[in-house]
Amino acid sequence: MLPAPEISQLRIVTCGSVDDGKSTLIGRILHDCQALLDDQVEVLKRDSATHGTAGDDFDFALLLDGLEAEREQGITIDVAYRYFATPKRRFIVADTPGHVQYTRNMATGASTADVAILLVDARKGLLEQTFRHARIVSLLGIRHVVLAVNKMDLVGFDQARFEDIAAEFMALGHELAFKTIQPVPLCARGGDNVAAASPHTPWYGGPTLIGHLESLDVTSMRAELPFRFPVQWVNRPDADFRGFAGTLAGGRVSAGDDIVVANSGKPAKIARIVSFDGDLEGAEAGDAVTLVLDREIDISRGDLLCPPGARSHVADQFSAHLVWMGEEDLLASRRYRLKAGRQSVSATITDIKHAVDVSSGQKLAAKSLGLNAIGVVNVSTAQPIAFDPYAENRVTGSFILIDRFTNQTVGAGMIDFPLRRALNVHLQDFAIDRDARARLKDQKPAVLWFTGLSGAGKSTIADRVEKRLFALGAHTYTLDGDNVRHGLNRDLGFTDADRVENIRRVAEVAKLMGDAGLIVMVSFISPFRAERRMARDMMGDIDFIEVHVATPLKVAEERDPKGLYAKARSGQLKNFTGIDSPYEPPENAELVLDTVGNDLDTLADMVVDTLRNRGLLGN
Ligand code: ADX
Repeated sequence: MLPAPEISQLRIVTCGSVDDGKSTLIGRILHDCQALLDDQVEVLKRDSATHGTAGDDFDFALLLDGLEAEREQGITIDVAYRYFATPKRRFIVADTPGHVQYTRNMATGASTADVAILLVDARKGLLEQTFRHARIVSLLGIRHVVLAVNKMDLVGFDQARFEDIAAEFMALGHELAFKTIQPVPLCARGGDNVAAASPHTPWYGGPTLIGHLESLDVTSMRAELPFRFPVQWVNRPDADFRGFAGTLAGGRVSAGDDIVVANSGKPAKIARIVSFDGDLEGAEAGDAVTLVLDREIDISRGDLLCPPGARSHVADQFSAHLVWMGEEDLLASRRYRLKAGRQSVSATITDIKHAVDVSSGQKLAAKSLGLNAIGVVNVSTAQPIAFDPYAENRVTGSFILIDRFTNQTVGAGMIDFPLRRALNVHLQDFAIDRDARARLKDQKPAVLWFTGLSGAGKSTIADRVEKRLFALGAHTYTLDGDNVRHGLNRDLGFTDADRVENIRRVAEVAKLMGDAGLIVMVSFISPFRAERRMARDMMGDIDFIEVHVATPLKVAEERDPKGLYAKARSGQLKNFTGIDSPYEPPENAELVLDTVGNDLDTLADMVVDTLRNRGLLGN
C-alpha cells in the first residue's frame, strides 16, 4: 500500500560493515516493507537456496551483494540509495560502504540524513569503527541515532549483553550531543524487532526498528529555521515574467513577505509563489518553488534570499570542518573551486588548524590532510559568499571543494563561523597607477616565469636576460628561489605544502613588482602546474610569460652545480625535485628553452625577442 502523498519522508544513513549484517538488515527492511519487486523476490528465493548461508530462509545479503558487484564494476557511485515506504512514512536509505577508510562515502551519504542507523554485532560489541561512525554522524549534524544491536540470536537473545552495549554507547552519545538514541536488539536474518516485535526478546519494551523510524519526529525542524532560498536559476520565459527558481533551504515564506538578497542587501517583497500546481499562499523548507518579487532587483543564480531580520552571514573568510576526499593531499595555499549551493568561487585553505582523530575526537597537529582525514581549517574565498553555520542550517552551511584540473570533488566542508579579520580591509585606489609607473619607464610590465629542475639553468639564463634588458635601459628585478628563501621565505622547507606556499608568496611579490611597472624575472623550480597556473591567473593585465627551462633530469644531474643531486641520491637530502619529489612540466609554456643544444647567449636572445615581439620593450 502506498502512503498518502502528504506524509513525511525520512532520510536514513546506515553505518556498519557487511560483517555486522548491514546488507542483511537493509535487505530485510526492504522485504518486510514490501519494497522488493516480485521478480527480485523470486531471484532471491532461488539464489538463497543455491548460494545462501541462511538455510531455508532468504539470504538477504545476496540481494545487496548483487548491487555491490555492480559497484565493483565501476557502474554505480559509492553510495547506493534505496527507497521504501510504510503507510506512515516514506524512507530513503543511503547505504555506504562500511570499511574504515571510507569516511568520504559516509560523508556523502550522511550529509542529508535525518537519522543514522549504527550497526553493531552483538558478539563483538562496540568497535573502533562504531566510534568513528558515531563521530562522523555527529559532525555531519545528524541528531538522531539508532543503535542496531544485530545478531542477537548468536548471543542467545541475552538481555544483559544488549544492555551492556547500549549503556556503553549512551556514554559516548551524550558527549556527541545526539537528541535521541534508540538501541534496538535485532536479528536481521530472522526479522526479530525489524518490522515485528520478536518473541525472543520479551524483556525488551522498546519499539521495533521500523516502528521507531516511523514515529521519529524530525520534520518540523527545518521549517522552524529562518527563511533561506538559494536561487537555483532565473526563470524568464518572456518579458512579462521573471521568477527565481529553487528549493527552500530553511523556514517558510508567504506572499507579501519582505526579503533581502544576502550579498547585496537589496530589499523586495514576495509577490507570488509559483509551483507546478499554480500559485501558493506559502511554502516551507524542502518545497521547490519559483518566487516572483514585487520589483526588479539584481539577482542571479547563487544568490541567497533571506528575511531582513535574520540575514545569513556574508564573508570571504571562515572557519570550517573539512572532510578530505582527494587522492592527493590537501595543500594549504593551493587554489580550489568552492561550491556552496549554486555559488561557485575560487578558494584557498589559509590555515589547517588541526586534524581530528575520528576515533577518539582528539585534536592532532597537521600540516596537510590526506584521503578521509577530517580537519578544522580557515578558508578564504576570492569573493564573499552567503552562508550560515552548519550547526544552524546544513544546506546553507555546507560546501564542497573541487580540484581545478581534474574537476573531482576533493573535500566536503561544514562551516563553523565567519572570520572577522578581513572585515574592515578595503582595497585603496592610488592616483599613480601601474600604467603611469610603467610609462615613466617607457616599458610595459611583465612577469617572466622561469620553471624547471634544480640545476636546469633558470637563474643563469635569467641573469643573462636581465643584463641584456638592463643594457637596453629596461627596469627589471629578478626573484630567485635560493635568494628569496633566505629572507621572506626562510620559514619554508621543501614539502609539497611549503613549496605551494613558497610559490604563492613569490607570485604575490611578482605581482606587486609588476604593479610597480617592472619587468620581473621569477626563477623558481615551481614544480606544480596548479601554482604556476595560479600565478598566471593572479597577474591580471600584467603579461605573464612562462619559460620552461627544459633541461632533462639526466643532464641537470650530471651538471649538479651545487652537489645536491649527489646528496639526494645518497639519501642525505629528502624531497629533492626530480628524485623523490615530483616535477610537473608545463603543457603550454610560452617559451621552451633547450639548454643542451643552445648556448647561453642564444637562449637569452630568445627570451628578449619574445619580450620585444610582444611589444613590451620601449623603442
Ligand atoms: S620550489 O620547488 O619551492 O620552487 P625553489 O626554487 O624555491 O623551489 O628552491 C629550489 C632551490 O633550493 C634549488 O635550486 C636548490 O638549490 C635548493 N634546494 C634545497 N633542497 C631542495 C630540495 N629538496 N628540492 C629542490 N631544491 C632544493
